[in-house]
Amino acid sequence: TDGVLVDRYGRVARDLRVSLTDKCNLRCTYCMPAEGLPWLAGPELLSDEEIVRLVRVAVERLGVTEVRFTGGEPLIRPGLVGIVAAVAALDPRPRISLTTNGIGLDRLAPALRTAGLDRVNVSLDTLDPGRFTQLTRRPRLDAVLAGLAGAAAAGLSPVKINSVLMRGVNEDEAPALLRFAVEHDYQLRIIEQMPLDAQHGWDRSTMVTADEILTSLRTRFDLSPDPAERGAAPAETWLVDGGPARVGVIASVTRPFCGDCDRTRLTADGQVRACLFATDESDLRAALRGGADDDDLAGRWRTAMWGKRAGHGIDDPTFLQPTRPMSAIGG
Ligand code: GTP
Ligand code: 5AD
Ligand code: SF4
Repeated sequence: TDGVLVDRYGRVARDLRVSLTDKCNLRCTYCMPAEGLPWLAGPELLSDEEIVRLVRVAVERLGVTEVRFTGGEPLIRPGLVGIVAAVAALDPRPRISLTTNGIGLDRLAPALRTAGLDRVNVSLDTLDPGRFTQLTRRPRLDAVLAGLAGAAAAGLSPVKINSVLMRGVNEDEAPALLRFAVEHDYQLRIIEQMPLDAQHGWDRSTMVTADEILTSLRTRFDLSPDPAERGAAPAETWLVDGGPARVGVIASVTRPFCGDCDRTRLTADGQVRACLFATDESDLRAALRGGADDDDLAGRWRTAMWGKRAGHGIDDPTFLQPTRPMSAIGG
């Protein structure tokens, strides 16, 4: 191995997030406009082989131990099961996870499990069918619930639920989501909305904060600090009514965890992003298609990560949202 992905602040990236497509079959209002976005063109996308090659470089030569596939919606990528199988065959074998909206997961979970997928995080912001349709602009709540059940039945564990709360839309739903999660043995994490929507409609003054989320949950549940080590996890967790159930809050805005960040990102078109909020990218696709060897690719990846900024800077007066929207970064 040629070393690890370390930045000038001493953080080491062991967790690789790979976006497999920028497309999605939902249109969550906090993510995309109703008409969708200008999607990446076919030739711009990395092929399945190119993705596996870059993941292999990260795992074999750069010390990456966790690989998460994201989107857009990763389940709509035709080669997903094969990509998972190829990554599971790497030595050392990384842990493999998926962040998905859950649509179609009931059908795909057994094959993904067999291929080597370890666990899934499913996005679900509301349990109310009308609200779901308003929020995602598609009437697919039942498909998501079936996906969650299918993931658990296939042995993917833990199954986590990601919920973003929005003022005036679903801000009152934290206790109901937690009740549902505890009953089904899913692990709920409630997320502060970040300024990453394609429409640039984010407003800090109306964002539902971690403090509000906790206050709302405590009207129905007793929450005590989780004794487990947090490590580099974005979620701060609490035991629910004494445990063993847990709930997490991902407070990127009011309690940033950038100092412990262990992430590196690869976009569907082969760009390394050192941070979710990076304004620059490093073009591994051009290098790869230009004939670069593994050594060269590893060196470029290390250089890209060395320049990672200290934090997201959301509170800086000069903060600028990245031009690439959330759906093309992968969260
Ligand atoms: P676990 O390994 O299960 O904890 O997954 P995760 O929470 O890291 O990943 P997931 O894709 O489920 O993302 C949940 C939320 O965390 C989303 O809103 C992501 O955008 C956010 N998130 C993931 N990584 C980072 C990060 O490096 N920085 C920030 N600020 N948010 C992140
Ligand atoms: N802020 C925080 N989380 C977001 N997600 C999508 N957009 C945002 C945002 N602006 C969540 C999705 C999904 C995960 C990848 O990121 O709900 O669970
Ligand atoms: Fe799709 Fe996720 Fe964006 Fe919703 S948040 S539109 S599920 S990519």
